[in-house]
Amino acid sequence: MKIRAAVLEDFGRPLVVQEVDLAEPGPGEVLVRLVACGVCHTDMYTASGVDPSGYAPTVLGHEGAGVVERLGEGVTLLSEGDHVVTLFSPQCGRCVHCESPLTNLCLAIREQQNRGYLPDGTTRLSLGGEPMRHFMGTSTFAEYTVMPEIALAKIDPEAPLDRACLFACGLSTGLGAAIRTAAVRPGSTCVVFGAGMVGLGAVAGCRLQGAERVVCVDLSPERLELARGQGATDVMLGGPDSVEAILEMTGGFGADYTFEATGSVAVMRQAVEAARMGWGLCTVCGVAGKGETLDVVPRLLITGRRVCGSSFGGLKGREDVPALVSRYLAGEIDVDPFITHRLTLDEVNRGFELMEAQDGIRSVLEL
Ligand SMILES: NC(=O)c1ccc[n+]([C@@H]2O[C@H](COP(=O)([O-])OP(=O)(O)OC[C@H]3O[C@@H](n4cnc5c(N)ncnc54)[C@H](O)[C@@H]3O)[C@@H](O)[C@H]2O)c1
Ligand SMILES: [Zn+2]
Ligand SMILES: [Zn+2]
Repeated sequence: MKIRAAVLEDFGRPLVVQEVDLAEPGPGEVLVRLVACGVCHTDMYTASGVDPSGYAPTVLGHEGAGVVERLGEGVTLLSEGDHVVTLFSPQCGRCVHCESPLTNLCLAIREQQNRGYLPDGTTRLSLGGEPMRHFMGTSTFAEYTVMPEIALAKIDPEAPLDRACLFACGLSTGLGAAIRTAAVRPGSTCVVFGAGMVGLGAVAGCRLQGAERVVCVDLSPERLELARGQGATDVMLGGPDSVEAILEMTGGFGADYTFEATGSVAVMRQAVEAARMGWGLCTVCGVAGKGETLDVVPRLLITGRRVCGSSFGGLKGREDVPALVSRYLAGEIDVDPFITHRLTLDEVNRGFELMEAQDGIRSVLEL
């Protein structure tokens, strides 16, 4: 079928919205009519050409939500008409990682997905008769996409899809970092560095876990206001003195849990240093630049601080994303303040400009 999609033709150039061909879903695959899609940093990072693993041409987008339109052969997990959130981090339910409660890094389709192919090593997208690769296994800057059934989370149809799409990446990453990866204990003191989509999600996650104190650190006063709305009890402008200020606020000890959601290795270091002696856990969510390393004084670890990373908030997508969407519907998560711009597919490049200007938290494309 012919669909309209935003194609990254050349790195460093605006996306070109145009007609492309999408083939029918193969075995284990599903055709999804996309309704909404958030614009995330990873899309812009790949479009810029800085990402060493990026490829072009491809249809970008990975924060999608939509409706199942058609099933390929042998699909059992979904039915036509189901409402779904796309998962760049799938859950096959059968691999050694899916069977372990310790990780969400499903191994089933990893290799092909990283190279831009569906699990059988081919693509459903083509441009001018030439096969075109999928992006993050999702390619959701489009009217339709074909995805493996294990990479779609079936959500409550009551959830508006233009809100639900945020659960496909940034928001879930932050929420999950607090709820799953760190599993913040009630009554704790938490510090979140960064108040973008991921950091604000982490603030909300700490609140949901019953943290007593949630300190948010960012460079933008407006974003710190949003953090208050998500449950931050204290906010602080970031800078070289952030660690000292946090130690002072916590009787000289540091926080029970710290979260880094900036992508800066200097801030990651601060997040480690602001974690409490004895048991403080630092969770790193940000993606650092290629070749950058995290500098940590080993003594901080010997004296009981721990550091861990979190991909997609440690969430097992098909189980955990629908549960988070239900918590949103129950009024526990306030999604609306994150959606600062609504754009059409044709305005997708405007979404990148807004992001570059740090204008708002999320632009949502209405497809
Ligand atoms: N681990 C994952 O699965 C995953 C998923 C999505 C995004 N990410 C990564 O998470 C990071 C955050 O994503 P986002 O969408 O929230 O980005 P964002 O750019 O919207 O937010 C980053 C925030 O960090 C703040 N910041 C920058 N320097 C600071 C400093 N010195 N002190 C305090 N705050 C500072 C900025 O003001 C900004 O508000 C990025 O690196 C992104 O690539 C990771
Ligand atoms: Zn993303
Ligand atoms: Zn798996």
